[in-house]
Amino acid sequence: MVGRLEDSVAVVTGGASGIGRAISERFAAEGASVAVWDVDEKIATATAEELVRLGARAVAFGVDVTDAGSVAAAAERSLAEFGRVNLLVNNAGVFDYYTPLLETSEEQWDRVLDINLKGMFLVTKALLPALLADGGVVVNTSSISGVVAGGGGVAYTSSKHGVIGFTRQLAAEFGQRGVRANAILPGAVETPMTRPILDQADAAILERVRSVPAGRHAQPAEIANLALFLAGDESSFIHGAAYLIDGGWTVF
Ligand SMILES: NC(=O)c1ccc[n+]([C@@H]2O[C@H](COP(=O)([O-])OP(=O)(O)OC[C@H]3O[C@@H](n4cnc5c(N)ncnc54)[C@H](O)[C@@H]3O)[C@@H](O)[C@H]2O)c1
Repeated sequence: MVGRLEDSVAVVTGGASGIGRAISERFAAEGASVAVWDVDEKIATATAEELVRLGARAVAFGVDVTDAGSVAAAAERSLAEFGRVNLLVNNAGVFDYYTPLLETSEEQWDRVLDINLKGMFLVTKALLPALLADGGVVVNTSSISGVVAGGGGVAYTSSKHGVIGFTRQLAAEFGQRGVRANAILPGAVETPMTRPILDQADAAILERVRSVPAGRHAQPAEIANLALFLAGDESSFIHGAAYLIDGGWTVF
């Protein structure tokens, strides 16, 4: 059977853990070659090795998405390896663990905004020539924190609102030039990022997670399904959209 992403080449940032790893695996299973970009080179390498073991073409790059030089080098090496990049998943991110505004240091604000938002700008800018040459697709990981407060602290919420604006601007500037861009907005997903929260059994947070219509948090593979849909041809008329995938978190 032909995969839904056969002949595609994807760059997945933060592609070695949690949601990004699930997306890397799903894209590879659908026939894409995958460049796993992650600041943690060790887990990126392990992820790429696993994809290769499963029969995919995959490479790992240790990349800090906040560093333009690091991003440029990874873009160059990814294109040298695969000859093209037509899918970009901007997924690398960090959480601020609900830090309230008055306790958020300038340093923490900068770190969260740099990784979650500026990183997306640097990576997209570096890969746009390749995406434009190839009718590319961009999928950006925002969050429920892109549309409501309370899913994080002030830095995280601000960064994830920014991701939606960034995605819409990309769609506006590049849609007619052949590049489609959309955002995914997960609710609570069990990953290394959220495990400390889910494990620490904070009654209020766990109650909030379980009070959603789905009655539970998500597994990363469920989010990868949406990323696959938005990366593939089935979503060909979808531009600049922000897709909630939150078990109903935001219905209340
Ligand atoms: N887990 C959730 O409940 C949830 C909900 C909504 C949105 N998200 C978003 O999903 C994305 C993935 O989160 P996750 O839960 O899988 O977390 P995770 O911690 O498992 O994965 C994040 C990955 O990003 C990488 N990363 C961090 N800083 C980086 C940098 N400077 N350069 C390159 N890579 C970097 C990390 O090494 C890690 O592999 C994030 O953008 C997060 O904000 C997560």
